[in-house]
Amino acid sequence: MHSVGSISSDLTKPYLKVEGGRCLSGSLKVSGAKNSALVLMAASLLTKETIELNNVPELTDIDVMTELLLSTSAEVQRTKNQLIVNTRSLDSETLKLPYKLVHALRASFVCLGPILARIGEVQIPLPGGCRIGSRPVDEHIKGLQALGANVTIEGENVIAKTKSPNKKLVGAKINLDYESVGATETILMAATLADGCTIIKNAAKEPEIQDLANFLNKMGAKIQGAGSSTITIEGVNSLKGCKHQVIPDRIEAGTFLIAAAITRSPLTISPIIPEHLSSVLSKLKECGCVFEQSNDELKIIPSKVIQAVDITTNPFPGFPTDLQAPFMALMSTAEGICKIKETVFEKRMQHVGEFKRMGSKINLCSNTAIVKGVKKLHATSLTGGDLRSSAAMVLVSLVAKGTSIVQGLEHLDRGYEDFEKKLNNIGANILRVNNSDGKKFSFYKKKSEAKHNFSSGSEVA
Ligand code: UD1
Repeated sequence: MHSVGSISSDLTKPYLKVEGGRCLSGSLKVSGAKNSALVLMAASLLTKETIELNNVPELTDIDVMTELLLSTSAEVQRTKNQLIVNTRSLDSETLKLPYKLVHALRASFVCLGPILARIGEVQIPLPGGCRIGSRPVDEHIKGLQALGANVTIEGENVIAKTKSPNKKLVGAKINLDYESVGATETILMAATLADGCTIIKNAAKEPEIQDLANFLNKMGAKIQGAGSSTITIEGVNSLKGCKHQVIPDRIEAGTFLIAAAITRSPLTISPIIPEHLSSVLSKLKECGCVFEQSNDELKIIPSKVIQAVDITTNPFPGFPTDLQAPFMALMSTAEGICKIKETVFEKRMQHVGEFKRMGSKINLCSNTAIVKGVKKLHATSLTGGDLRSSAAMVLVSLVAKGTSIVQGLEHLDRGYEDFEKKLNNIGANILRVNNSDGKKFSFYKKKSEAKHNFSSGSEVA
């Protein structure tokens, strides 16, 4: 292992070779939303009947969640984009979820609510996931305690048990201190089988919460208000099986729009739900991009000169934190200076050091980056430290002069289905190298001229 800057590099792991300077054109298919699919899989633990999920992306996070369901004795049939899950044999004794799986995937922690609601007790390790801050789970725990559960943390484990003799949770009014997506999902799922009515105030409003509520209502739950900051759940005795189509991934869609903007290439993406992308579209319009929309298809026509535009990340409908790193990649190539402020996660700026090694002009002060666009970026070896920054490394490499190496694919593959394949289909040249011997690898810069000259836009298609 050797160091290439702020993040350590291990060339024995798979990496991407990304040729900079190519123009893209054509259409991209947006996959199903990872963050929806994961929580819907967890929600399948609420019923003894069979759940069919379609449009499930093929990702390593879905692999881990599948394994987690299997560890609860669930039956899971999986084809490329479909999952059929039956959790009828969920054990009624204390269920202990495996440390390795829960630690590998923070989203797996949302299994806590459904299992507790269904069988009255569960032991789950504290979660892992992207290295973007401490990511506590206090809101999940306080919510379940309000629903009448006894929740304790013993070592690395959360142990939750219902208190009532019938092992059921009890409806309650819950005011979240922070509009956490995961905590809203945990409480929402747990409350579906509680005795009585639950009201969640200051609930998260993300589209994935709406997708979850739609899914739970198909299962027979009685939920109103999802997508607003107050959600009301009337508890029911049991839930039934259903079929559901996962919504399109708004973060993948946003990443593709930024790929179009950074390469100054017109692209069409589909399917999308435009309301899920409103803050991203409005920022890209401010940058100089034009959009043509028809049904669930969106064409982006970027200006040759992308203007610098400030963003502050916020919960939905604000600018998504998951697109902060890709947007910073774009701003590195913009005309002017902008301010990028991260307010959702405390340590989500690790990509700054990597961008700077390509020639980006960025000053970082705590969670605010001041970015001055440059005319040219230069290929280098980059390592994505979390899921979205890995994608941002690929985007920035698409326009750097020469051939870049992007590592950290274990993060990228968690959240982007066929990422390089999709980009290659529209003109990128990205090669995945499954190198097993780092010593044979040598980094080189390709001599071909980059076609991009960001600020003037003169060489950009
Ligand atoms: C989800 C998404 C993630 C996205 C994030 C914000 C999934 C699988 N992941 O993550 O891609 O970036 O929403 O849109 O859906 N917090 C607490 N206490 C808690 C819970 C959260 O303080 O109990 C804090 C976190 O530390 C973080 C902030 O709240 O700073 C946002 O977290 P949250 O909204 O819960 O995000 P996740 O559900 O983890």
